[in-house]
Amino acid sequence: MTIHIGAKKGEIAETVLLPGDPYRAKWAAETFLTDTKLVNETRGMLGFTGTWKGHRVTIQGSGMGMPSLSIYVNELIRDFGAKTLVRIGSCGGMQDRVNIRDIIIAMTSTTLGNPSRGIFRELNYAPCADWSLLRAAVTAAETRDAAVHVGGIYSSDVFYDERPDLNEQMVRHGILGVEMEAAELYTLAARHGCRALAVLTVSDHLLTGAALPSDERERSFGDMVEIALEAAFA
Ligand code: HPA
Repeated sequence: MTIHIGAKKGEIAETVLLPGDPYRAKWAAETFLTDTKLVNETRGMLGFTGTWKGHRVTIQGSGMGMPSLSIYVNELIRDFGAKTLVRIGSCGGMQDRVNIRDIIIAMTSTTLGNPSRGIFRELNYAPCADWSLLRAAVTAAETRDAAVHVGGIYSSDVFYDERPDLNEQMVRHGILGVEMEAAELYTLAARHGCRALAVLTVSDHLLTGAALPSDERERSFGDMVEIALEAAFA
């Protein structure tokens, strides 16, 4: 047990999927895992451990934003021995060729200020995905109908961004989408010798204003969960 995760030692698998939303953790665990057990409900941040094709997996909510994710990922790695961590979440599309429902696999993530900024200070560290996971996720994605984009994303600290010029620069520099967690996940995984990846579904679009209707979310998110699982155990 840690401050934020009530699981007992051994109840968390070495492979952890991390949706921001605890209810999406519940849905993904109920939909894709067998022998599922609720292992954490501290602060309502639900976590489940179960089995996928014979492999043990934990699906743990991370909360929204890098400070929240940092708490869960630090405890998962340092106290529970997590080794492979895959974020599954939504993002806002930032390029014309990226459409809602598409999947983005984040090779790297740009950030203005993650919780690790205090360590790096003037250094612009480049948080980057684990290559073996990235390659396996792209292979898994290519066998499906979903359109897939691989490249850089932006991990923002704010959902309601008052600096439109910043988004413009991100778009201009080829950033595929914006979310709020991946940069810190990649940085923590690198620091502790773990593997990390973010597989994202485009739920809304910053240029067009399009948004995924709520009744379609589950089906689109399902592809992302399966790609994450196939990549983790490739
Ligand atoms: N901004 C930040 N995070 C997000 C967005 C967005 O537009 N959409 C989904 N996650």
